[in-house]
Amino acid sequence: MLLNWILLFAALFACGLCLDNGLARTPPMGWLSWIRFGCNIDCVSDPDFCISEKLIMQMADHMAKDGYKDAGYEYVCIDDCWLATERDKNRRLQPDPKRFPRGMKFLADYVHSRGLKLGIYEDFGTKTCGGYPGSEFYLQLDAQTFAEWGIDLLKFDTCHSDAHDNKYGYPAMSMYLNQTGRPILFSCEWPYGELQQNLSSDYGPVRQYCNIWRNDWDVMDDFKNVMGIVGFYGKNNELFMKYSGPGGFFDPDQLIVGGIGMSHYQQRAQMAMWAMFSAPLLMSNDLRDIPEEAKQLLLNKYILSVDQDPLGAMATKVWEFKGLQLWVKPIMPKGSLAIVFFNTNAFGSGSAISSAAGDIGMTDSRGYQVTEVFTGKDLGTFKPDTKLKTRVFTTDAYMIVCKILS
Ligand code: GLA
Repeated sequence: MLLNWILLFAALFACGLCLDNGLARTPPMGWLSWIRFGCNIDCVSDPDFCISEKLIMQMADHMAKDGYKDAGYEYVCIDDCWLATERDKNRRLQPDPKRFPRGMKFLADYVHSRGLKLGIYEDFGTKTCGGYPGSEFYLQLDAQTFAEWGIDLLKFDTCHSDAHDNKYGYPAMSMYLNQTGRPILFSCEWPYGELQQNLSSDYGPVRQYCNIWRNDWDVMDDFKNVMGIVGFYGKNNELFMKYSGPGGFFDPDQLIVGGIGMSHYQQRAQMAMWAMFSAPLLMSNDLRDIPEEAKQLLLNKYILSVDQDPLGAMATKVWEFKGLQLWVKPIMPKGSLAIVFFNTNAFGSGSAISSAAGDIGMTDSRGYQVTEVFTGKDLGTFKPDTKLKTRVFTTDAYMIVCKILS
């Protein structure tokens, strides 16, 4: 075992800065199966909702034809529970033969034919979180297998492993992915594994070897949980700001917009905050059956432009008062801002805002052209002393884009 790590170290040293795939210049966008479809493997009695090639093909079709692809959503990602329970006789990973009868190469070709990319899930440990064969001891072989199949993104989980090993194992997998010559976006749960085992994370190497990284608990279709994640990002704001940028982004987990457990207002609050974090926008919903207002939110060009802003900055949490938070994010052109008020209160008629623009970040005397993003309403020109008057409802957000005037 020790010898393995020594050899790996030598290889990593030789390859220098390993993650050199040119991907994720802006936060990746797409769809991921986990929150909505979980580990449903019962295709006999639940054929339309189980993890299968049919489900993934249907999602790809909807992404391509319903406007998501044109808006920038690109990766169709399968989470856990796609695997057969054993490796094949050559120790290669194989998908469950009943649920993926035509294999992963077929599925990748199908997704590519729709102009999209295919993401897959594996685990650094001996098993995936769902109990399927993990990649430990097979990192190189698995990277090669994914590349041969035509996979474009790997979500690499951390169950059934010792998190002390993450700082060796994830760089090793990053190197093996690079060596395949296929650009495969590397989505890591490296810091999340460390968090679970009460270890601290060093985001320098994480950013060096991963394109996106989970560092908090799983999101659920529930606003309390979303608030918990926003709280965690608020608490660690100064640290996280140093590591977000083109090529590498924090991943607060899937977007539950179009889900069941949150109101429309809560969904737009999640969407706003994820855009402020420059987070990957990986929706986990049923694109075959999605409320129109959720769809419009997912396609909202103002929110998407804040998320996809080329600076890739993490917003600053400016203050929190009585459950109301103010977040400000620099965007292009230089001097412009996105501003969000995020209301965590679940009682009352909301918070009334009456504030000079300069007090919430718009301090430049050239002024700003301000747009409210959910309605797309042009609020006109603001100077630092212009008053912004609005109301932020409970468990909701208010979001504006402020473009600097020249
Ligand atoms: C972990 C991850 C989730 C999901 C499941 C799959 O909990 O954090 O995002 O991938 O495993 O089993």
